Amino acid sequence: MGMQSVAVACGALTLCLALTTATNPGFVVRITQAGLDYAQQQAIASLEKKLAQLRLPDISGDSRVLRVGKVHYELSRLRLRDFHLPYSRITPISNKGLQVSISNAFAELDGDWRVKFLFIRDHGSFDLKVENIYIKILLRLGSDTSGKPTISTPDCSAHISKVRVLFSGKLGWLYNLFHSVIESRLRKILENKVCDKVAMSVYNELQTYIRTLPVTARIDNKIGIDYSLVAPPRATTKSLDADLKGEFYSLAHRSPVPFSPLPLAFTSDHERMVYFGASSYFFSTAGIAYHKAGALVFEITEAMIPKDVEFKLNTSVFSAFIPQLEEKYPNMPMKFRVSTPTAPFLTVGEGGISFQPIVDVQAYAIFPNSSLAPLFLLSLTGNVSAVINVRSGRIIGSLDVGRIRLSLKDSAVGTFQVRMMQSLINILTSNMLLPRLNARLDEGFPLPLLDRIQLSNILVRFHQNFLLLGADVRFQPRR
Ligand SMILES: *[C@@H]1O[C@H](CO)[C@@H](O)[C@H](O)[C@H]1NC(C)=O
Ligand SMILES: *[C@@H]1O[C@H](CO)[C@@H](O)[C@H](O)[C@H]1NC(C)=O
Ligand SMILES: *[C@@H]1O[C@H](CO)[C@@H](O)[C@H](O)[C@H]1NC(C)=O
Repeated sequence: MGMQSVAVACGALTLCLALTTATNPGFVVRITQAGLDYAQQQAIASLEKKLAQLRLPDISGDSRVLRVGKVHYELSRLRLRDFHLPYSRITPISNKGLQVSISNAFAELDGDWRVKFLFIRDHGSFDLKVENIYIKILLRLGSDTSGKPTISTPDCSAHISKVRVLFSGKLGWLYNLFHSVIESRLRKILENKVCDKVAMSVYNELQTYIRTLPVTARIDNKIGIDYSLVAPPRATTKSLDADLKGEFYSLAHRSPVPFSPLPLAFTSDHERMVYFGASSYFFSTAGIAYHKAGALVFEITEAMIPKDVEFKLNTSVFSAFIPQLEEKYPNMPMKFRVSTPTAPFLTVGEGGISFQPIVDVQAYAIFPNSSLAPLFLLSLTGNVSAVINVRSGRIIGSLDVGRIRLSLKDSAVGTFQVRMMQSLINILTSNMLLPRLNARLDEGFPLPLLDRIQLSNILVRFHQNFLLLGADVRFQPRR
């Protein structure tokens, strides 16, 4: 019957294909200008350090100097003392990537000089101030086949407009010589080296870092979340958006989800550094994955009933409303097996996350030899709503159940008034099922965060078809 209903749901094969090839994201991450500004602070501080490690080659050559003739010069032991990037900005450029603009950067370096002309040799040291350095870098984001982000620098330019040299030496014309040599040669070298260093840092550091995105987040030994990119990250005029699959799956047997995500109408909020949009699809696949993995099956036995609950799980107690129990299974312990015949389908609306699960409760009598006799099967349904929050980079939740409706699906001990079971089921639900589920939900599910990112200032909003989480970000440097 299950197979048949799948076939019917798909109808024509073309419809099935249409369902599976849609690439709407189940989860969207948006980095706003505020987030880019924060990233810029972190990235620039790191780039400053990298640039200060630039190694410059020795420079030598011959030059003609008026009234002196041919001069052979050498600049050696060139050493950058520091590199300052006081003004920078990262801006998203629609459909292109991120533009990093650095202006008025400056650097200081020193080295030794040596000259030879006629039969004279002289040498000394010099200090150099390089000012008004402008660097423009375009960062292009992409995604690889595993859905991890990639980053490259298709475009980089560095321009130095001012070089000031201070050197020790007696010869006045030396200043002019050095000035022109340094102007023309050192400047070029430095301009090229800066872009090489930038490209290397982006590749080695930034790309390595952004690839810490957990595209497959393993949650426990049964379930994972697929956070792979379904498309390269998109720059808009105001943000950088990453469309992720956002799908829970069973580790043991992943199968295609029989429906696809609806488009996610992201809001234009921009106060927080980062926003996460988790669609109904994301939550529903959680229901499917847990259902498939057999994780939504609970056994309730006498031993598990909390001490403060005045209730015994045995046939003597239940024979009060099922008289047949007394004669068929006198004075025997019982147990309940709670399961979901179908995966719960969760929806997100403006009022929150809700679902109407169907829950089966099969009651058994337990023989002295531990074999089980099926007694009756109850079907439960009710409105469940979820409260959502974020803690330690994880979505956490807790469920609340409205009035539970009972019906008798099957019975080996005759029919009875299920109404009589209402308070019992309420007790079991509120004292055993919900606390167990909520304890699990309180451990939470990881958000797709890069390494060493902490969230604060959390905002939780429900919209039609998706949950919006906003947060500010803090990068924890490695200790
Ligand atoms: C069943 O519960 C009743 C009421 O608490 C108790 O008196 C009886 O001993 C229990 N029987 C078994 C087999 O546990
Ligand atoms: C366990 O006991 C019941 C009742 O005495 C009996 O019907 C059943 O066959 C026994 N099962 C096993 C596996 O011995
Ligand atoms: C669940 O909620 C819907 C709408 O809010 C309502 O019509 C329905 O009766 C509720 N079901 C139960 C079992 O309370």
